[in-house]
Amino acid sequence: MTRTLAPDDVGIAEAARLLAAGELVAFPTETVYGLGGDARDDRAVARIYEAKGRPSFNPLIVHLPDLVAVEKIARVGPKAQMLAQAFWPGPLTLVLPLREGAGISPLVTAGLQTVAVRVPAHPLAQRLLRAFGGPLAAPSANPSGRVSPTQTAHVLEGLTGRIAAVLDGGACAVGLESTIVVADPEPLLLRPGGLPVEVLEAALGEPLAVGGDAGKPTSPGQLASHYAPEAVLRLNAPEALQGEVLVGFGPVKGALMLSESGDLVEAASRLFQMLREADRLAGPGGRIAFAPVPETGLGRAINDRLRRAAAPRGV
Ligand code: TXA
Ligand code: MG
Repeated sequence: MTRTLAPDDVGIAEAARLLAAGELVAFPTETVYGLGGDARDDRAVARIYEAKGRPSFNPLIVHLPDLVAVEKIARVGPKAQMLAQAFWPGPLTLVLPLREGAGISPLVTAGLQTVAVRVPAHPLAQRLLRAFGGPLAAPSANPSGRVSPTQTAHVLEGLTGRIAAVLDGGACAVGLESTIVVADPEPLLLRPGGLPVEVLEAALGEPLAVGGDAGKPTSPGQLASHYAPEAVLRLNAPEALQGEVLVGFGPVKGALMLSESGDLVEAASRLFQMLREADRLAGPGGRIAFAPVPETGLGRAINDRLRRAAAPRGV
């Protein structure tokens, strides 16, 4: 079911075609294999979470061919500029302010105002990005909770039947995920990785403070303000109470629908959009109710985000 594509012009053209059709294609980078999908396509991004069986919508890294492409979607501050010049292409991910109207799916950033970007050095990743001509969201190509894949066989072990294809690039040179940093205004290490901290500090000329992984909320309310609508949210609602805007799912019909057919991939891809629309319909001080969503597959992630959105502010 999952095809292995050869590392040649034909394989790359086919990989780019599949990605443009909203399919998922694993591809080699110098760090680990990435599970690629069109970062502008809510559905493709929802499929990434589903294929990995990720229990929550951790934000994903966006892969682009060069700094010029990065500047179109994110604001690159002075220290980030310097690091990009020094280490891209390479195993460095920069967390940058997302540009307004960049066209990146809110599922990629998990609703944050920042975006993690990386310019991979692997020649096949470079050729694929240029053939595809757009941003690729790509977490490591492994089921959630497993070790990252550094060979095509590892990718197939974990994801056969769950993705359209894997572009075969042999073994990854780095074999360890990229180093993730915030550069401006104060440099902060979010994840140690393929680019050593000492090398970064030498380039910056200052020590790198160690931050928590900002992408992983540690308390239910930490990210709430990013999703939380103005309106009050009620979950697991079988029907609307008076004055509530009901967001339905499957058999529970609402003014808005996460998915008519009860499809969790569709529901995930529409979640942030529905939150926004429901908030607009409810108006200031209004109330929103969400139909029950099953706690299976992507439903767990949807419910996780809904609980955060419903959590009181400042928790
Ligand atoms: O080497 C790599 O970085 C590989 C290859 C495929 O490029 N990708 C990778 O992606 O490791 P992933 O999804 O496994 O790791 C993404 C990390 C997560 O820990 C996430 O929390 C963090 O990046 N992240 C993404 N966006 C973020 C943001 N806006 N702010 C803070 N952290 C972010
Ligand atoms: Mg990973």
